[in-house]
Amino acid sequence: MVALDGPSGTGKTTVARKLAQRLGAGYLDTGAMYRMVTLAVLRAGVDPADSAAVAALADKTDFGIGTSPDRLEIRLAGEDVATDIRGPEVTKAVSPVSAVPHVRELLVARQRQIIDEVLDGIGGIVVEGRDIGTVVAPDSPLKVYLTASADVRASRRSTQDTAAGRKLSVADALASVERRDHLDSTRTASPLRAADDAVHVDTSELSIDQVIVALSELASHRGLLA
Ligand code: DC
Repeated sequence: MVALDGPSGTGKTTVARKLAQRLGAGYLDTGAMYRMVTLAVLRAGVDPADSAAVAALADKTDFGIGTSPDRLEIRLAGEDVATDIRGPEVTKAVSPVSAVPHVRELLVARQRQIIDEVLDGIGGIVVEGRDIGTVVAPDSPLKVYLTASADVRASRRSTQDTAAGRKLSVADALASVERRDHLDSTRTASPLRAADDAVHVDTSELSIDQVIVALSELASHRGLLA
């Protein structure tokens, strides 16, 4: 198993999927799970800041997530919400929702279950998130913490959103990246931080392919190649 943590804009999602393909492993996007609960909260008209209401709704949420790196499957009560969970409303509300301790307990338990199933099945999985190496799977044989400067991450976010048809200036992207970093790293429940034994990789000056090569080598040294 590979635990891949770090803030947004580090190329984490693309790197995690491609690395899983290269290793013949499964893939789990834990951020998508927090985004799904957030989408359910917004659709139900619940205030994301109302922790008790968010926790109650999370209990009732029927969400399904696939583990194939080739075909993303993200379903809320059977409906494909892969696009909706990336929208600006969800991105804005996901930090308060993911700070609710009950939401984290629920999702961490679910993530551990999925990881165990995939490890028992195909034998390997790349899991991306914020607390994988610290909380979800502290025994993971390889933990990687991806970083990049805030400016680089904002510029990547702006390019990505603009390509997806949501115009976002670099200045607005920087404000959003810094706001979410602050909320994610200062929350009481499992704040974003690197595990003590994580390998740090700064992707500011690296292409996605260069990051994949570096991580594949690390995985190979630890005997994690499929
Ligand atoms: O990786 P992402 O941008 O899709 O994640 C969305 C949010 O979910 C992020 O702001 C923090 C939260 N998150 C979390 O708290 N723990 C995780 N393991 C993954 C994501």
